[in-house]
Amino acid sequence: MPALVLLGAQWGDEGKGKATDLLGGSVDYVVRYQGGNNAGHTVVVGDQKYALHLLPSGILSPSCTPVIGNGVVVDPAVLLSELSGLNERGVDTSKLLISGNAHLITPYHQTVDKVTERFLGKRKIGTTGRGIGPAYADKINRVGIRVQDLFDESILIQKVEAALNDKNQILVKLFNRRAISAEQVVEEYLGYAEQIRDYVADTTLILNNAIDEGKVVLFEGGQGTLLDVDHGTYPFVTSSNPTAGGACTGAGVGPTKINRVIGILKAYTTRVGAGPFPTELFDADGEALRTIGGERGVTTGRDRRCGWFDAVIARYATRVNGLTDFFLTKLDVLTGWEQIPVCVAYEIDGRRVEELPYSQTDFHHAKPIYENLPGWSEDITKAKTFADLPKNAQAYVKALEQMSGAPISAIGVGPGRDETIQVNSFL
Ligand code: GDP
Ligand code: IMO
Ligand code: MG
Repeated sequence: MPALVLLGAQWGDEGKGKATDLLGGSVDYVVRYQGGNNAGHTVVVGDQKYALHLLPSGILSPSCTPVIGNGVVVDPAVLLSELSGLNERGVDTSKLLISGNAHLITPYHQTVDKVTERFLGKRKIGTTGRGIGPAYADKINRVGIRVQDLFDESILIQKVEAALNDKNQILVKLFNRRAISAEQVVEEYLGYAEQIRDYVADTTLILNNAIDEGKVVLFEGGQGTLLDVDHGTYPFVTSSNPTAGGACTGAGVGPTKINRVIGILKAYTTRVGAGPFPTELFDADGEALRTIGGERGVTTGRDRRCGWFDAVIARYATRVNGLTDFFLTKLDVLTGWEQIPVCVAYEIDGRRVEELPYSQTDFHHAKPIYENLPGWSEDITKAKTFADLPKNAQAYVKALEQMSGAPISAIGVGPGRDETIQVNSFL
C-alpha cells in the first residue's frame, strides 16, 4: 500500500491532524500538497498538545520524513517560527523537505487579503487573513515568488518588483493604503534564504522514487472538500484543491500511483467563515456541539459554526475524491443526545434532492430533511473495538456508512492517538 491520500470530507477541521499523526509511525513520508498556514491541525500525543499550521502532522513521528510539496504556499516567517517552536519542545525537524517550486506568501499577500476582505464588507469570505488567496492568485497570474527564487538575488528583486507593480497601484489608488517597498521585502526574504536552504529538495523525484521502492507515502490535505476552489461552495472556499486530485498536482505524483483515499469525516458538521451550511444550528444543540466538541478555530480562534451530520455532503465527498474509506471522528461528542438528527437529503424549492446541487442558488436554498437516529448515554471514550460501542452508537456509525458510500474504517472516540477504534487497517 505505497501511497495514500488523507483529506477533509467536509469544511475542514474534521480531525485530519490526529488521523495523520496516528498513521505517522507507520509511514515513511507525510506530504502537505496544498494550502498553507490557513490550516490548523491539533495533535494530542500523551499529555502534549501541538498546533500545526504549515508543517505536515507527520513531523511528530521520528521515523517519518515530512514534506512540503510544490502545491503549498509557504510563509517563511511562519515556517521558521513553527520549526523553532517544535525544536524547543524537543521535536527533531531536521528531516523536513521543501519543494523549490512551492510559492512564497509575502507581506503584500497578507495586506491584499485583509484589505480585499474589508472592502467586500457583508460579502466577505471570512478568510484566515494569512495571504493564501492572493499568493495563489499570483501563482496563476505567473507573478508568484517561489522558494527557489530566494537563492538568486537578482531574480528575486525582479520578481518582487514585477509582483508589486500593479499591487501598489491598487493599494494606493483603490484602497488608500501605503505602497509596499520592494527593497524591504527583498531584504527580509533574503534573510530567510540561508535558514531554509538545507531543507529544499527535488521533492517530486524523491517521492516518486520512494513509491517505486515500496515506501509508504501519505498525502495530508489541508482544509476540506467543500472548501475546494473547484468542487466546494465557491466563492466561499479556499484558493487551492484539497480534493484528491490536488495531491497529484501538488506533489508531482501521478494518479496511478495512489492506492487509497481516506476521507476524514466528523460525526457532525462544522464550518469557519462565511458561506452556505444547510444543517447549521442556531439553538442550544449547536451551542452544545460547540462546547462539548471544543469547536474553536486553531488558526484564528474564531468559534466554529456547528450543525448535524449531512449525508449529502459525505456522499459528494465520496464521489469527487473517489474515497476508499472514511475515518469518522468525534463520535464521543455526540454522547448524551436522546435522538441525533442526520440530514439525508435536501428540500429545495419544494423538491426533494438527494445529491449536492451544482447550482449555487439551489444550495443556498437547501433545507435539510432529517432522520432521527436513537442516541446513547454511555461513555465511549475507552472503547477499543467496534463491539465495545453501545448498540445505538454502532447503529449510528453503520447508518452513516450506508448513507455516505464508503466504509468507515476508523472511528475517533477522543482527541488522543490511542482514542481510536480501527475497524479496517489503512496500510
Ligand atoms: P484538522 O484541521 O482537520 O486537523 O482538525 P482540527 O485539529 O482543526 O480540529 C479537530 C479537533 O478535534 C482537534 O482539537 C482534535 O484534537 C480534536 N479531535 C480529533 N479527533 C477527535 C475525536 O475523535 N474526539 C474528540 N473529542 N476530539 C477529536
Ligand atoms: P484545516 O486544515 C476550516 C476557511 C476560512 C474561510 C475560507 C477561505 O484546519 O481544516 P483562506 O484563508 O483559506 O483564504 O480562507 O476557508 N478555511 C478553513 N476552515 N479549516 C481550515 O483548515 C481552513 N482553512 C481555510 O475560514 O472561510
Ligand atoms: Mg483545523
